[in-house]
Amino acid sequence: MNARKDSMNDHDLFSDDHAAALDAADPLRGLRDEFLIPQHEGADQAYFCGNSLGLQPRAARAHVLEVLDKWATLAVEGHFTGETQWMTYHELVRDPLARVVGAKPVEVVAMNSLTANLHFMMASFYRPTRERPAILIEAGAFPSDRHAMESQIRFHGFDPATDLIELQPDEANGTFSMAAIERAIAEHGPRLALVLWPGVQYRSGQAFDIAEVARLAHAQGAVCGVDLAHAVGNLELALHDSNVDFAVWCHYKYLNAGPGAVAGCFVHERHAHTDRPRFAGWWGHDVSTRFLMGAEFVPTPGAEGWQLSNPPVLGLAPLRASLDLFDRVGMPALRNKSRQLTGYLEDLIRARLTDTLEIVTPAEAGRRGAQLSLRVSGGRAQGRALFEHLAANGVLGDWREPDVIRISPIPLYNTHADVLRFARSVESWRDG
Ligand SMILES: Cc1ncc(COP(=O)(O)O)c(C=O)c1O
Repeated sequence: MNARKDSMNDHDLFSDDHAAALDAADPLRGLRDEFLIPQHEGADQAYFCGNSLGLQPRAARAHVLEVLDKWATLAVEGHFTGETQWMTYHELVRDPLARVVGAKPVEVVAMNSLTANLHFMMASFYRPTRERPAILIEAGAFPSDRHAMESQIRFHGFDPATDLIELQPDEANGTFSMAAIERAIAEHGPRLALVLWPGVQYRSGQAFDIAEVARLAHAQGAVCGVDLAHAVGNLELALHDSNVDFAVWCHYKYLNAGPGAVAGCFVHERHAHTDRPRFAGWWGHDVSTRFLMGAEFVPTPGAEGWQLSNPPVLGLAPLRASLDLFDRVGMPALRNKSRQLTGYLEDLIRARLTDTLEIVTPAEAGRRGAQLSLRVSGGRAQGRALFEHLAANGVLGDWREPDVIRISPIPLYNTHADVLRFARSVESWRDG
């Protein structure tokens, strides 16, 4: 709960002046101007879907146009011309990306899509045996992750009915205690080949201590991978120190790189020279001899050794614009503002809206990121009605069946005034 709230009555909390004062005191307030805010009836929308598709950084267009112009004027020579030559274009995002996720540059690469990267990582890091065939995931995992796990288990000739272990939530709102995760890893330990855990669970918004999950998995001899779709650019990550073996994520949510943007992948430095099997392609071949076009595959050390194809330059261009902003402000400052914005949202709900909205996401700031998942009282029909009322009033959240609205105030571009507008819209719908 926001400390300032204690000395404040509900009326003050819900006042425009209060929200305006919080925005005026925000050291990051200027960043909003770096984004294109969707419009609703001639004014800015209150956009809370950055956990689904981040807004467009203004500079993204220039980066894309630079590629198009180079293509128009230089064609194939674009591969070798200038500081942004396409041959090494993926390297332009490597260092800033490493800073966002708390990794060493050799540990990260931008490539493919999230689910594709998950499969490529599993080709190397899920090596089931008869004694140790199982994967542990959370029950209710994102369907694509579950499909990937199940199909990999079958691919290796094992049976998902026994070898895909889905931990049921043990807390009231469908969240997980660390004790439950610890018990499951201990119980299944000798059979576990892989623990695949989310950084932030997409439906509940619960954040996890991935270093602790990795420690527990490793203690049982299992590999630990993490899906950071909802964590990257949202939480302060320290991937290298967390010791996870691999991580995958997408860039179209908190990283604002546009629909279907090229995804991200982390491989811990200790695997930089691994001789584990992998599904290889020419762009993963050692960079110093790649163009000798030899028949033998010699991997580039580190995460780049898992690349298959030459970089998708147009897909990477908007990511550069977004990473420039992350570099300008840094994750600690962003996370600070994020805690405040989400804390303010929580305060508003607890002050006046608990008869309408139940907060599913954990209350502790350390167990969540930007997103609050809100269950609407009265079930699906009521939930849909509220969701549509919000959208009609220019307040955009996103809907998760059967009765949850997810609201993610994004510290790069959302304001306290946006958050207040959400709370007021819920109030006006309830009060009819
Ligand atoms: C947790 C999680 N896993 C996997 C995916 C699938 O991502 P993609 O379609 O980029 O492979 C998503 C997409 O939103 C996600 O949130």
